[in-house]
Amino acid sequence: MTRIAVIPGDGIGTEVITEARKVLDVALPGHEATEYDLGAARYHRTGEILPGSVQDEIDGHDAILLGAVGDPTVPPGVLERGLLLKLRFDFDQYVNLRPSRLWPGTNGPLADVKPGEIDLVVVREGTEGLYAGAGGSLHRGSPAEIATEESLNTRYGTERVIRDAFQRALRRDRRHVTCVHKANVLSHAGDLWRRCFEEVAAEFPDVTTEYQHVDAAAMYLVTRPQDFDVIVTDNLFGDILTDIAAAVTGGIGLAASGCVNPDHSHPSMFEPVHGSAPDIAGRGVADPVAAILSTSMLLEHLGHGEAATAVGRAVADELAGRTPGESRNTSAVGDRVAARVSELL
Ligand code: NAI
Ligand code: MG
Repeated sequence: MTRIAVIPGDGIGTEVITEARKVLDVALPGHEATEYDLGAARYHRTGEILPGSVQDEIDGHDAILLGAVGDPTVPPGVLERGLLLKLRFDFDQYVNLRPSRLWPGTNGPLADVKPGEIDLVVVREGTEGLYAGAGGSLHRGSPAEIATEESLNTRYGTERVIRDAFQRALRRDRRHVTCVHKANVLSHAGDLWRRCFEEVAAEFPDVTTEYQHVDAAAMYLVTRPQDFDVIVTDNLFGDILTDIAAAVTGGIGLAASGCVNPDHSHPSMFEPVHGSAPDIAGRGVADPVAAILSTSMLLEHLGHGEAATAVGRAVADELAGRTPGESRNTSAVGDRVAARVSELL
């Protein structure tokens, strides 16, 4: 039996996860879901972020579905480092997968790009780089204060994420991988990334390749996003580029992601890219599509390809029927998508 750990989290995290679970119930009947109360609310109530015993329990599941954690009342970094990054690092979720499509029925901000023309996926390194937490500060608060933040790049970590990107490209129509870094200035890490990229590329003669500096890639994501297929990049660059990719494809309410452990040695975690959106929380207007598409990625990862495709189709139908600018009812969207999935399966 498939066991899913569910972390609804805070704010609209709980609202969109309710809808994602409606869809999961239909797409994967008979699975067992365990809800975990983690996030800002628990932190305020008990001071706990991620107790070790809870982490061990979550580790016993096949996958994690997460809404969003965070609230402006929690100091920055506490939940990000103590919960999200801790799970990504400890569960070796080294592939941070963020697809972006401009779906028919949705409005992007780019005048020249038509629905259906953008279909890219960013394979962002998830366990190293500037997010490794290597650094420190000295003389804090004094004029002599020093702060360092080091980017850690191992050959092992770089090579495995690049190989994953090529394997994904092989399963896509265009079979093209763009490596993004800043090798002209970050010459140590950039040199390792470029050499690994060239070496792994040699193993995949059917995949075409390209290298771009991150600043150019940021520009091209806006000027000609249609040209991208798979982008592989380091942790920080991937974080920034995926926000641009989400913006040019109709916004944060549609952006899904997976923190994937391709080796299945620990559970992978699937979550919408957005946060807890305190500005709209509790009003029932959050778009659950990002959470539902994250559920589709979860199904795909666990080998339920048919169910994953059905969820993707149901979302496509939902979006095609939308009038841009119209306000949304969170639970009505979940009901419609779940009903469509049950028709398709
Ligand atoms: P946010 O993503 O929560 O909200 C940004 C804007 O997008 C807001 O105007 C919000 O109303 C809108 N929005 C987000 N998701 C939406 C949806 N599904 N439907 C419609 N509109 C949506 O980012 P923000 O405001 O910077 O962060 C709020 C809290 O969430 C913070 O505490 C932050 O730390 C946390 N956060 C957590 C993340 C996670 O759990 N992975 C990711 C990003 C932020
Ligand atoms: Mg981000």
